[in-house]
Amino acid sequence: MRVLICHDAGAAARRTADILCDAVAARPAAVLGLATGGTMEPVYAVLRDRLADGSLDLTATTTFNLDEYVGLQGDHPQSYRATMDRLLFDAAGLPRDRTHLPDGAAPDVAAEAVRYDAAIAAAGGIDLQLLGIGGNGHIGFNEPTSSLGSRTRVKTLTAETRNANARFFGTDEAAPRFAITMGIATILESRACVLLATGPGKAAAIAAAIEGPLSAACPASALQLHPNATMVLDPAAAADLRLRDYYETVHPGGGEALL
Ligand code: PGA
Repeated sequence: MRVLICHDAGAAARRTADILCDAVAARPAAVLGLATGGTMEPVYAVLRDRLADGSLDLTATTTFNLDEYVGLQGDHPQSYRATMDRLLFDAAGLPRDRTHLPDGAAPDVAAEAVRYDAAIAAAGGIDLQLLGIGGNGHIGFNEPTSSLGSRTRVKTLTAETRNANARFFGTDEAAPRFAITMGIATILESRACVLLATGPGKAAAIAAAIEGPLSAACPASALQLHPNATMVLDPAAAADLRLRDYYETVHPGGGEALL
């Protein structure tokens, strides 16, 4: 696992955007796994700037988002489909049929989850998966005790996650209770993944994910099994890491390893 501790949250977002841009430069038709959440918004702002100045071209890529709320139509402003249109897809000029999210309004959401996993496989699998992390250690909406072997499926959101999302819905009551999320095994099949965490609210989850035991109690700890996982952190999110000095020696300023 590469642990990149950047100077501040802005540098961490740019570093994450750089990794995605490098993947697209290496393979213009890359299959990208995308994530929503407040942490990712500065990453998409960087990508929009690069799309605008012509230094990034996403028109040949295919995208699969991690998750979507159950019960929201794609045109609901808080659906992840609408969020992604606003944050990236409208600016990227991607044909809509190459931007994939689970359909949270599907009549049979269990079948939709199975279809989504199959669609990822049919596209050849994900080259680079972006991830955030919940304060409880979730990735996607794989809440604590999610099976480390899980596939895309419907999950019930924890009260903590619903509270964190309530800011987008006005009230706790309005926040959705269920989501379709890629499973942990689905995420582990990505050829590379990058998890971005910023702020003190993520410090405990990051320490558990990187240095804690491999455990369904912290779903992000499953990334310890991933052969090509990168954690991009700001100093606040890195604050509880016991081996922080080591990571900073290997990757000074969050840069490439000195060999
Ligand atoms: P956040 O969400 O970026 O809004 O903190 C991250 C997550 O829950 O995965």
